[in-house]
Amino acid sequence: MSSGVSTTTVSPAAPPQQVRGTDSGADTVRVGVIGYGYWGPNIVRNLSALDRCDLVSVCDTKPNALKRAQKTYPALHLTTDPNEVLQSPIIDAVAIVTPVWTHFELAKAALENGKHVFVEKPFTSNSAQAAELIELATRKNLRIMVDHTFLFSGAVRKVRELVGNGTLGPLYYFDSTRVNLGLFQHDVSVVWDLAPHDLSIMDHVIDHQPEAIVATGGNHLNGLADMAFITVYFPGNVTAHINVNWLSPVKVRTTLIGGRDKMLVWNDLEPDEKIKVYDKGVDITNGQGVYDLLVSYRSGDVWAPKVDATEALSLELGYFLDCILEDKTPSNDGEAGLRVVRMLEAAEQSLNNRGQIVVL
Ligand SMILES: NC(=O)c1ccc[n+]([C@@H]2O[C@H](COP(=O)([O-])OP(=O)(O)OC[C@H]3O[C@@H](n4cnc5c(N)ncnc54)[C@H](O)[C@@H]3O)[C@@H](O)[C@H]2O)c1
Repeated sequence: MSSGVSTTTVSPAAPPQQVRGTDSGADTVRVGVIGYGYWGPNIVRNLSALDRCDLVSVCDTKPNALKRAQKTYPALHLTTDPNEVLQSPIIDAVAIVTPVWTHFELAKAALENGKHVFVEKPFTSNSAQAAELIELATRKNLRIMVDHTFLFSGAVRKVRELVGNGTLGPLYYFDSTRVNLGLFQHDVSVVWDLAPHDLSIMDHVIDHQPEAIVATGGNHLNGLADMAFITVYFPGNVTAHINVNWLSPVKVRTTLIGGRDKMLVWNDLEPDEKIKVYDKGVDITNGQGVYDLLVSYRSGDVWAPKVDATEALSLELGYFLDCILEDKTPSNDGEAGLRVVRMLEAAEQSLNNRGQIVVL
């Protein structure tokens, strides 16, 4: 490829021309990827390693991004024109790995052209867009999967297992901290950039739907919130708290989940023993009056369950292919993406009104 790429198709490899539907008993899915910036290479790397995936094209409007792709995948069809992917008759599914403000238009065009969609978090810029895409996909019997990558990590799968099988007892709280220095985004606040991770994990782990959100925070550099404290209220006295911050001197990725019977700490930066389960708790025995309350603290064993180290994105993309080939609705579908977008909108509204409660 020359350095002055100006044509839309920059790879010498032309896209294959044979047309085929996934409903014709095919055992592979032909995928095109749009967006090869920071995250796109991870999607392409994982897709290219999956047996049931036929990676057809990669598109990025920036020729320099495609030059990087061509070095690693010399035989791949590369283009600067997203329509070559969106309208290709030989592509079954499109992965959209571009900034959030582009998700709606690209996903809509993909669905209108009969493609299944894998789209990055956050699903869309607002809930009306998400609802429109869900309706379109349903009408055309196409799958939408929103990349909530953490749900496929060994740690979150284990956390969900421990909460789901009652190990912790009834939940009291979920408290997640995701802070570091940068990476500042130009188009979205720290809420829309980092909180989708925690909100999607929370949505996956806590079975109830939230009732209300309160958020406070601040912007110090470019007018977009760079730190935020989000509190989510659930029925049954379950409270979640999420701290996201681009102005932290240290990187922290820690989630505490407290239950009546046990509590856990998930530190994602730990190479081993990411999750520790504490047999700790508080028991209160009611006496006759307030001075008769008996408080006893329980402090038992600590154990670190085994956490599977398989790359989350590989499992997630494999599941996307399964859902297409087996006509299944993914758990992280458009509805899951919409629930997260609704919470992001509520958090932003509350944050802009200095912590005013927003009922969901
Ligand atoms: N799941 C995760 O853990 C995770 C991690 C990082 C980023 N993301 C998400 O991935 C998405 C992309 O983030 P990023 O950090 O890679 O951004 P980025 O800016 O580094 O890359 C985006 C790329 O998309 C290209 N692009 C933009 N509009 C395009 C269009 N219409 N057609 C073709 N190409 C286009 C840009 O040229 C750029 O190369 C965001 O939604 C982000 O939230 C997810």
